[in-house]
Amino acid sequence: MDQAYLLEWTNLLLRWLHLVAAMAWIGASFYFMGLDQSLRPAKDGNPLIRGEQWAVHGGGFYHKQKFVAGPERLPEKLHWSKWEAYWTWISGFALFVLMYWGQASTYLIDPDVADLAPWEAIAISAAMLVAGWVVYDLASRSPLGDNGAAMAIIGVVGLAVTAYAATRIFSGRGAYLQVGAMLGTIMAANVLMVIMPGQRKMVAAVANGTAIDPRWGGAGKQRSVHNNYTTLPVIFLMISPHYPMFWQHPKAWLLLVAMALAGALVRQFFNLRHQGVQVYDFWLAGGVVVVLVAAFIAPPRAAVPTGDAPAFAEIRQIVEQRCVECHQPRPTNTAFAAPPKGFLLHTPSRIQRQAQAWVGQVRSEAMPPNNTTGITPAERGRLLAWVAAGARAD
Ligand code: HEC
Repeated sequence: MDQAYLLEWTNLLLRWLHLVAAMAWIGASFYFMGLDQSLRPAKDGNPLIRGEQWAVHGGGFYHKQKFVAGPERLPEKLHWSKWEAYWTWISGFALFVLMYWGQASTYLIDPDVADLAPWEAIAISAAMLVAGWVVYDLASRSPLGDNGAAMAIIGVVGLAVTAYAATRIFSGRGAYLQVGAMLGTIMAANVLMVIMPGQRKMVAAVANGTAIDPRWGGAGKQRSVHNNYTTLPVIFLMISPHYPMFWQHPKAWLLLVAMALAGALVRQFFNLRHQGVQVYDFWLAGGVVVVLVAAFIAPPRAAVPTGDAPAFAEIRQIVEQRCVECHQPRPTNTAFAAPPKGFLLHTPSRIQRQAQAWVGQVRSEAMPPNNTTGITPAERGRLLAWVAAGARAD
């Protein structure tokens, strides 16, 4: 079995695991944030109960009660949520290493941005993953950490600086994934380094009958709120490789910040809505406005047709030279065991029949990835002129 084929399987299995674990984790985040926001004062007057919620789901009624300072006695079985977070990070990090570090020249490096050797790009990427957490953690522990508005501003400014730096170091696509990986790492580290240790202390205190320090749960709550606002931005970044219009754009960093901000505003809308606050439409409208602004200020950088309709022979030659090393049944580019996305361009009829499918990739400059095969702007113009003239093969 050849190596590229094994890599393909590893990639698939990691991605599958990553998606499933992330759904479980983010689902839990949405669920518990919504639950917390919709707790109402308990009816039976037990002073230990901060609030309660009644729900109906899956053919039964549920009655949930929150004990901020712990119950009197530890229940026999206590459910923890942590493996969703850990597995999301483990699988995501492995996938990032496999693709963006393992194939750094294809996915992480763009010589037009910075002509880095793979090891240099990988070292910077790793250092940024660690630095992101350290800076964020210090900010959260500082006196500003308790101020939600201040943390929101720090978050947006920090994200802008990071996105700007990443797009000056890595390929556009690599920069987006790098920032996504940094946010994901912060989220998982919040669980591992703050939320779980605090909860372990709380559980031990209940077991020993000693008092619970409110700071233990408070820090956990702070980080879990931060994680909640980060979910939609991270998901956007994880699906962004499909949308070169963002990361190919000269203002890619600004679009990243705008979309992340829109995601956080939408979370704000849902969190207030679950609290029953009435001004919440404002936040949803804010999210929508930010997305619209991003869409209008950012028509993608696009190649334009040049000259009159070229002959098919010219087109074939360009495609063969610039695309076929990857898009053929057995790619000669050793990074690929199979044609990426199953997309084939090695025969005249495929070039012609699929013209509409590939011309968009040529126009947006998503293909060739990071222009590995060195297609020229003039060649892009010729391909577009041919399609504009009807993509004829005679
Ligand atoms: C170095 C290898 C390589 C070269 C050269 C290359 N591609 Fe691709 N192509 C890829 C990869 C990798 C993907 C999958 C991208 C992804 O993961 O989103 C892809 C995907 C595509 C897709 C499918 C996009 C989708 O999301 O369904 C099209 C269409 C395409 N390429 C067209 C082209 C054209 C046209 C050229 C030449 C101008 C070209 N490619 C050159 C590697 C290459």
